[in-house]
Amino acid sequence: MTLWSGRFSAGMDDALWDLSESYSFDHVLYPYDILGSKAHVLGLVHAGLVSADEGSALSAALDEVLAEFAEERFVRASSDEDIHMAIERRVTELAGDVGAKLHTARSRNDQVATTFRLFTMNAVLRVAAGCLELVDVLVAVGERNAGASLPGYTHLQRAQPILLSHHLNAHAWALLRDVDRLLGAKDRMSVSPLGAGALAGTSLGIDPTVAAIALGFHDIFANSLDAVSDRDFVAEALFDIALLGVHLSRMGEELVLWTTTEFNFAVLGDEYTTGSSMLPQKKNSDVAELARAKSGRLVGNLTGLLVMLKGLPLSYNRDLQEDKEPLFDSYRQVMLVLTALSGAYESMSFNADVAARSADDESMVAIDIAEELVSEGVPFRVAHERVGQLVGEAVRSGRPLADVVAANPDFERFTDLFEPGVSLARRRSPGSSGPEGAGLQLHRLKSVRESLGIRVTQADDIPDKGEPIE
Ligand code: ARG
Repeated sequence: MTLWSGRFSAGMDDALWDLSESYSFDHVLYPYDILGSKAHVLGLVHAGLVSADEGSALSAALDEVLAEFAEERFVRASSDEDIHMAIERRVTELAGDVGAKLHTARSRNDQVATTFRLFTMNAVLRVAAGCLELVDVLVAVGERNAGASLPGYTHLQRAQPILLSHHLNAHAWALLRDVDRLLGAKDRMSVSPLGAGALAGTSLGIDPTVAAIALGFHDIFANSLDAVSDRDFVAEALFDIALLGVHLSRMGEELVLWTTTEFNFAVLGDEYTTGSSMLPQKKNSDVAELARAKSGRLVGNLTGLLVMLKGLPLSYNRDLQEDKEPLFDSYRQVMLVLTALSGAYESMSFNADVAARSADDESMVAIDIAEELVSEGVPFRVAHERVGQLVGEAVRSGRPLADVVAANPDFERFTDLFEPGVSLARRRSPGSSGPEGAGLQLHRLKSVRESLGIRVTQADDIPDKGEPIE
């Protein structure tokens, strides 16, 4: 018998039960649901709807249920449709008659919205902290390989030489934007829906601010319909994770390229590579491939949620139960990738000699010659055309560009530009890839990282019962 069976004369068919039960996946929400229920009890006591003693009894029973879950002693009853009903059922068993008062002035609709917000707020903070760890690794790898260079690419064609640290820091900046976005999302979702009831509030004199304050929410809902039907917070979290996943996939793709025999810019540690069941020589960068692959799934979870939400009439609809698995999945998967990619970069040896040889590819000196001409007063388009002719001559004749330049009396004063490392060192505009601005950029990056780290710690104001998914 379910907790809502009063008006029914027949039990639910197994087929409907299997379709609609959500305990099998939403039981992981137990710490947040118990937290929400304890805060609700405070509101009930405050409103005089339960006595202080009754409130204590309910709260003690909720603590006992929490312990049962944490110690894996909780036994699901066959009638437990979802985590909310399971907890209420057990509280009633433990606390006796007073258990029947727990759900006063509350519906599962405002309850689930509250519980899931708390989960999501915690989850986005954990993801943000994971991003910061990866940022630290990227910066450390850049510092460990100070001065190492490689070609910078556009269209995956060699374009201009850059420092390895500049390249890794580019990824770090994207991750720092992810952290900022996740913090913004956490801030926006910090609005308590508890007290909205099923959809229209209640005639009982409950003050939603009491529970909201106990739960660390920054605000309470203004409109009960919106409170129970709003899943923007899930969509935002899924988007932020999907975009982060896209960033991680780009890093993964690059590691795949760098660790090929053809590029050979980097080697991952044995502990971050896999072998082949057939080919004894293989050392595969599966970690990078999976980082690349998971992003598809993260985008899929976002898309699935948006399509589910589209066209839903106000207010709560059972469709909304489908909001959980995408977020659980995205959270779990992105955390796996963040941790594994951090380890993979940490284990990476950068083949500085090989990469430097590519970075000194003489074709990339073409722009330096053009810029020298500009410094001498030649309009850039004219300089571009003249250097382009030299490049064309080198390509057609099969001679190195340096030789063509040295043999041309109009250009031979530029031959020094072909010395290794010269092109890279010349890059000195703000934010550019050369060594001159590297210190300033690193300083800037570290100070943004520090302030985001402080914000992540400060944002962790949700009463916490451990990891979002244990
Ligand atoms: N398990 C449900 C969910 O996740 C809880 C809310 C059920 N509400 C209802 N009116 N049936 O959305």
